[in-house]
Amino acid sequence: MGPSLLLSLLLLPASLQAGSSKEYNPNTDFGINQPASLSAPEGGSTCISFSYFHCWELAKDPRLSIAVRRRDFHGEVIYNSTQRFIHKDYKNRISLDLREGQNSGTLCIWNLRKEDENRYFCRVQVETLRDGKQVWQSIPGTKLTITDAAQMTTITKGPTTTVTTTTRDMNMETMVKVALPIAVFKTAILGLVVYLWWKRSKG
Ligand SMILES: *[C@@H]1O[C@H](CO)[C@@H](O)[C@H](O)[C@H]1NC(C)=O
Repeated sequence: MGPSLLLSLLLLPASLQAGSSKEYNPNTDFGINQPASLSAPEGGSTCISFSYFHCWELAKDPRLSIAVRRRDFHGEVIYNSTQRFIHKDYKNRISLDLREGQNSGTLCIWNLRKEDENRYFCRVQVETLRDGKQVWQSIPGTKLTITDAAQMTTITKGPTTTVTTTTRDMNMETMVKVALPIAVFKTAILGLVVYLWWKRSKG
């Protein structure tokens, strides 16, 4: 306990100094985590889960704003939570579920199109207590791949259809096999009756 407390006391003034001179370490002082890549079928949906962290103390009203860019780091904005902006390409197909208390959220896109295949970058903006407005963004973003919808349909429908057809054919075959001896038996009985009737009428 002793050495760790001493270490904390030694580190504390250093971090305060770094804060006041605004020399932030982008690897540890703030960041955004989001999946490196995702893939979903055309016509399906996908959700990009993200979480963010920062070293600043928030203002009483932090006015959290989340934006999403596509293509590259400086690409066009497709979503802005405070502006309530949605790019026309994603009208009625995008929604953001924000869990501000957990510093995380989920951006979902549904009714996926082939053109949605792109890289998506989350961007966060907050009002801090002592350092004004701070904005930061994911550098690698999430690479979204849209797979072929037709392939999935073939895989799910194929075996089911085959099994149904085979089962029905087998049942019909069994029915024919059972029906045939009955017909032979009926014919034999009828023949016997006719023979006995003929023999009696003769004798
Ligand atoms: C959202 O839009 C507002 C108004 O244009 C802008 O000030 C803010 O920076 C945007 N949010 C992000 C996270 O870029």
